Amino acid sequence: MATLVVGGAGYIGAHVVRLLADDGQDIVVIDDLSTSTADRIGSVPLVRFDVAAEGATARIVEVIRDHDVDAVIHFAARKQVGESVAKPLYYYQQNIGGMVNLLAAMEETGVKKMIFSSSAAVYGEPEEAVVVEDSRTEPINPYGRTKLIGEWILADCERAWGLKWVGLRYFNVAGAGWPELGDSAVMNLIPMVLDRLAKGEQPRVFGDDYPTPDGTCIRDYVHVRDLAQAHIAAMHALDGDLPNRVYNVGTGTGASVKEVVETIGSVSGLDATPVIEERRAGDPPKLIASADRIKADMDFTATAQLPEIISSAWEAWQAGPRRIEK
Ligand SMILES: NC(=O)c1ccc[n+]([C@@H]2O[C@H](COP(=O)([O-])OP(=O)(O)OC[C@H]3O[C@@H](n4cnc5c(N)ncnc54)[C@H](O)[C@@H]3O)[C@@H](O)[C@H]2O)c1
Repeated sequence: MATLVVGGAGYIGAHVVRLLADDGQDIVVIDDLSTSTADRIGSVPLVRFDVAAEGATARIVEVIRDHDVDAVIHFAARKQVGESVAKPLYYYQQNIGGMVNLLAAMEETGVKKMIFSSSAAVYGEPEEAVVVEDSRTEPINPYGRTKLIGEWILADCERAWGLKWVGLRYFNVAGAGWPELGDSAVMNLIPMVLDRLAKGEQPRVFGDDYPTPDGTCIRDYVHVRDLAQAHIAAMHALDGDLPNRVYNVGTGTGASVKEVVETIGSVSGLDATPVIEERRAGDPPKLIASADRIKADMDFTATAQLPEIISSAWEAWQAGPRRIEK
């Protein structure tokens, strides 16, 4: 029996693939390599195509049958918030279309287990600083809506044909479990700061007048290696009777943008003095995961704290093509 990892060559997927492979498990990856490269998964079998394309269901069915798949982890999605606002239909076609094709193939072949990459984006701009899974879900952009709709589709398939699923709502994913598996996209805070430093520019901080102790936004940073472990925990939990379906994955603690930038400066030995710019729209002052539910149901805790996360991100950056010479 094998696990199908869709989007397994990506930043987070490749970490899960590495953990499964190190554990000696059979894996097959489907990935169109639109935001990744095949070398991230070594010798793990890779079938390259777009799961949202017309006719993809038949190809997924073939992969499931050829590799004797009994569980699916679904990472493949477009994830740029700004792009989702500009091109909503592309996001619905890709993220929802891909999900529907995948589930149709699972229904046809009787595969009943799925772990889905959801996101803290499903909460939008919550009033409470610490969000529990039952907090109101009101995403504020098409990207976040594709994640929430994804969860609804999974719940409908559970009712209709007995799908067993878990949606993991990731908070701010960062770091690298192995230096060669760093986040190559420059979209999250830490890679954005490193990208500016690599260009000899000052990091940018958007707003320092929020109602937080140092005036900058507070977020919950989770090490990608811990997040990958959460998928393993969820896979095991799916074999039992889970009382819930959606789970936050965060540390339950927050760090401010200023703290992150300062820690990058001290870890790297570079001058990371930031420039303060205007606030960006849609940034809540404080967004932290309640990590209680996943602890209670799966005995999972994300343990890495900010300095370790940033050290691993720095090491991965320095191992890559845009190494910063000091
Ligand atoms: N990185 C984060 O901070 C974060 C936070 C919350 C949720 N997520 C979610 O986690 C998942 C993985 O994110 P990531 O950071 O690893 O992104 P990523 O872009 O590195 O990985 C996505 C992978 O899926 C592949 N892919 C995308 N669309 C595809 C398609 N239609 N068909 C086949 N392959 C496709 C890409 O080539 C890539 O290898 C995504 O669903 C994302 O929305 C990420």
